[in-house]
Amino acid sequence: MDRVDDRQQGLVWRTCPIRDLPQDLGTLGLPASDHARAASVADPAARRRFLGGRAVLRATITELCPDLDGRTVTIAVAPTGRPSIAERADLHVSVSHTRGLAAAAVSTGGPVGIDVEPLERTALPPGRAWLTRGEQARLAAHPPSEQHRQLLRLWVAKEATLKAHDTRITRRGIAIRTDRGYAVEVVEPEPDGAVVALLRWEAIAHRFVLAIATLPGRPMRAGPSALRP
Ligand SMILES: CC(C)(COP(=O)(O)OP(=O)(O)OC[C@H]1O[C@@H](n2cnc3c(N)ncnc32)[C@H](O)[C@@H]1OP(=O)(O)O)[C@@H](O)C(=O)NCCC(=O)NCCS
Repeated sequence: MDRVDDRQQGLVWRTCPIRDLPQDLGTLGLPASDHARAASVADPAARRRFLGGRAVLRATITELCPDLDGRTVTIAVAPTGRPSIAERADLHVSVSHTRGLAAAAVSTGGPVGIDVEPLERTALPPGRAWLTRGEQARLAAHPPSEQHRQLLRLWVAKEATLKAHDTRITRRGIAIRTDRGYAVEVVEPEPDGAVVALLRWEAIAHRFVLAIATLPGRPMRAGPSALRP
């Protein structure tokens, strides 16, 4: 398993290339509950990605909380799809998997969301459906050769923020304030003026774009530089 991790204020995230998973997924040491859930995934490749996500999540839990055995904790799934750890309500977790990579983030500092996409992904909904006007204008200012990467960064940023937020917000209701990240604001359905997410963008092996969003315990109103980790 690839180890790409980061420790900041109780936050650890890791990625796992799907190709690094053993051929026999039974040897991953995952509990029967994970395999039972995987059994409901019809597509074998998607099933493999799901189990990769569980493996990297469990490893990341142990990484952040050595006193907790990530291999055996109960991963509960809310009706919204949001995962949580039954034994530790204070632990916030998030998972993402795409063709080629699984990723997980675990935090003791508040809700967290992670999202990853391959740079080759081109099929995204039309920008006007999910970008704010400001984001569309900033995107247009980038040279054409850079626009796709920027668009994907905005996409994963919004997906990560949706996962961290877990309330009824829309992608257009999330405003990414800068091209450098670190300032994300929920503006719909009600603008509260507070920066609600601390966002990191990462490029993985020049093939994937990954974003992590965290919701601090209390709203942060400071500018991007103050939010920078
Ligand atoms: C759910 C969603 C985040 C999944 O994203 P995706 O790019 O299709 O897939 P990813 O691989 O990145 O993420 C899948 C993981 O997201 C997690 N997830 C699903 N729903 C979630 C939610 N509401 N909140 C947080 N995490 C969620 C699951 O852990 C899932 O992994 P698993 O099936 O292996 O357990 C995406 O479809 C979405 O943005 N939906 C809207 C979210 C939303 O409306 N949230 C508010 C709910 S009230």
